[in-house]
Amino acid sequence: MTRAPDLNLVPFVSVDHMMKLVLTIGTERFLTELAGYIEEDFKRWESFDKTARVAAHSLDGVIELMPTSDGTLYGFKYVNGHPKNIKDGRQTVTAFGVLADVATGYPVLMTEMTILTALRTAAMSAVAAKYLAPKGSETMAIIGNGAQSEFQAMAFKAILGIKKLRLYDIDPVATEKCARNLAGAGFEIVKCTSAQDAVEGAQIITTVTADKQYATILTDNMVGTGVHINAVGGDCPGKTELHKDILTRSDIFVEYPPQTRIEGEIQQLPADYPVIELWEVMLGHTQGRRDPQQITLFDSVGFAIEDFSALRYVRDRLKATGLYVDLDLLADPDEPRDLFGMLLRHQAAMV
Ligand SMILES: NC(=O)c1ccc[n+]([C@@H]2O[C@H](COP(=O)([O-])OP(=O)(O)OC[C@H]3O[C@@H](n4cnc5c(N)ncnc54)[C@H](O)[C@@H]3O)[C@@H](O)[C@H]2O)c1
Repeated sequence: MTRAPDLNLVPFVSVDHMMKLVLTIGTERFLTELAGYIEEDFKRWESFDKTARVAAHSLDGVIELMPTSDGTLYGFKYVNGHPKNIKDGRQTVTAFGVLADVATGYPVLMTEMTILTALRTAAMSAVAAKYLAPKGSETMAIIGNGAQSEFQAMAFKAILGIKKLRLYDIDPVATEKCARNLAGAGFEIVKCTSAQDAVEGAQIITTVTADKQYATILTDNMVGTGVHINAVGGDCPGKTELHKDILTRSDIFVEYPPQTRIEGEIQQLPADYPVIELWEVMLGHTQGRRDPQQITLFDSVGFAIEDFSALRYVRDRLKATGLYVDLDLLADPDEPRDLFGMLLRHQAAMV
């Protein structure tokens, strides 16, 4: 029996290798190329097998599995969301993921996805803003200056040309950290004392806070006409960031409605409230921003296809960089039916 060698060895990208990969490629180039992969996959939306993510909720947080397939490749991400982790010195969001070959069912990549999720979330936000934000936007408010915030800033710089940032967090230590990390990146940065202060003069408002409850980061009076809101932090049942009145004044754009209706800002609205799917905007089936007065809202929750795009992008960059190790992940005897024999031969080799 002949077969391709080493299918049992699965390329594994550790956190260390992911950081080296991002730094080797360059953060802005990585985000731009990743955004290209996301856009490419959204434009072939109908070829994907889609399902809302499977969530296991607890009092402290959520653990989710996010699968999808285009018929050739299958991908999934394991991700958690635990806002209370911060006070114990842990991340709110951690993740890893797998890409597999549909033809054999064998994995072709396993990778850390905590850093990759921050990059893909930011790239997705920037892709959406490309279609929705006012033309020539230069100033973005970022409310919530935690782990995701700098990635958002870098993606909006690379893809939208954002030059000025207005930062606010209820914890000034987070704002200091964000401003410090972005100091060399070429932004004009203003540290703000309230969310109201932060949105002043911003054409784009990004909310990326973490709280396991219905929060009101933005109230209706804070949002003027013509802005684009990139609402990232409301991504779980019972966890939102915007006052309902903002939603009814906005045109609402979403990733995958069956998931967003459960997890997004629109969980505050009736189940049949009209929303626009981003893939339809990208394909030109429907309009994104139509006029300068319109408030556009990207009700981001994070969908499996974005992770699939990120996995695909990383896989395509691996061979040239060599930034992975082969993981002995699959038991794969030369004679496929002789799994037990492989165990016996191993035992013999051990003595
Ligand atoms: N939509 C997506 O695709 C996606 C992807 C990843 C993460 N997220 C969500 O984004 C959010 C942020 O993630 P993170 O990893 O940066 O979390 P984080 O815990 O590192 O940072 C969150 C920050 O929000 C601040 N904050 C909390 N309440 C606030 C308030 N009322 N006003 C201002 N700031 C406030 C906190 O002080 C903290 O600094 C989380 O809710 C996470 O679930 C969404």
